Amino acid sequence: MSIPFLDLKASYDALAPAIDEAVARAVSSGWYIGGPELARFEQAFAGFCGAAQAVGVANGLDALHLALRALDVGPGDEVIVASNSYIATILAVTMVGATPVLVEPDPRTHNLDPARVAAAITPRTKALLPTHLYGQPADLDPLQALADEHGLKLIEDAAQAHGCAYKGRRVGAHGDVVAWSFYPSKNLGALGDAGAVTTDDATLADRIRTLGNYGSHVRYVNEVQGVNSRLDPVQAAALDVKLAHLDAWNRRRAEIAARYLAAFAPLDLELPFVPEWATPAWHLFVIQSDDRDGLQQRLAEAGVQTLIHYPIPPHLQKAYADWGYGAGDFPIAERLASRVLSLPIGPQMSDAQVDAAIAAVRRAA
Ligand SMILES: Cc1ncc(COP(=O)(O)O)c(C=O)c1O
Repeated sequence: MSIPFLDLKASYDALAPAIDEAVARAVSSGWYIGGPELARFEQAFAGFCGAAQAVGVANGLDALHLALRALDVGPGDEVIVASNSYIATILAVTMVGATPVLVEPDPRTHNLDPARVAAAITPRTKALLPTHLYGQPADLDPLQALADEHGLKLIEDAAQAHGCAYKGRRVGAHGDVVAWSFYPSKNLGALGDAGAVTTDDATLADRIRTLGNYGSHVRYVNEVQGVNSRLDPVQAAALDVKLAHLDAWNRRRAEIAARYLAAFAPLDLELPFVPEWATPAWHLFVIQSDDRDGLQQRLAEAGVQTLIHYPIPPHLQKAYADWGYGAGDFPIAERLASRVLSLPIGPQMSDAQVDAAIAAVRRAA
């Protein structure tokens, strides 16, 4: 049996009549920018997140970038990010001309370690930007306490975290603003690129909407130098259909994760650690192995597709060679990059596929 990492076509097939109907409705409405489909989805997504406001944007990178801009983060400001986050988190900071300050994660949770964050705060720090990596919530309370103490903004990268909860409350309105990606493979994925921000702050939401609309409230009247970053109504219509299934799909992910955790406990692998306050969205199920590359090869031979999130930490990327970092500068991020392996997990995985993946990992580990 061959097991894909994630079967996006199966996710579409599961809801095909409803998605087709919603897309046709959006197309035939004549609204191709903004309009009722977008408004309906924004309202539904804000409600899902427990946030007062949601603003659709073109993708997750723009969600982060516009959130930073709307909070006036720019040149001379430092933004604290995890040294093992996806490159987009860091790109958003450099896009606004601010300086990303890489802070090593807690090696067990893979998320920003509040103690290390505290040590990295300087007079130039303007914001904390934790990522809820792999769908595991970052430890928000101590980060918020640090933000309050030092007068910082708390911006969350929730691109992998749709539906995850921190201390029983869904991620989406803890910090000042939360950035989301609806890239097709996310827990809530569009039929192409899409993103959003959520916040309880109506003024901030309006600033982000304006920045993403050429800096304009009124057509041809430009208040600030904005960009074009809008969530299109066809995507919004499809996302609205999928949103109604997100909880059920996340429950299926959690079932698979529970089976993996139980089955792999006796093996010589490091398994995801879930703090007692975390309800993960299980975007990814990431194990660690001393022989990661060999394990990946053996699983591929057994027909099990795996991926690595991420093989090169940001400080060693050529794109940031001018920072002058080298191997050994962020040992936790580097160790994770050499050991992590993401196993197949997705709402459409059948029990037979989960059984086969478990058997293959048992043989290969
Ligand atoms: C943690 C994280 N941040 C940001 C992004 C950027 O999202 P997008 O691809 O929609 O720009 C992604 C996903 O790609 C991500 O995984």
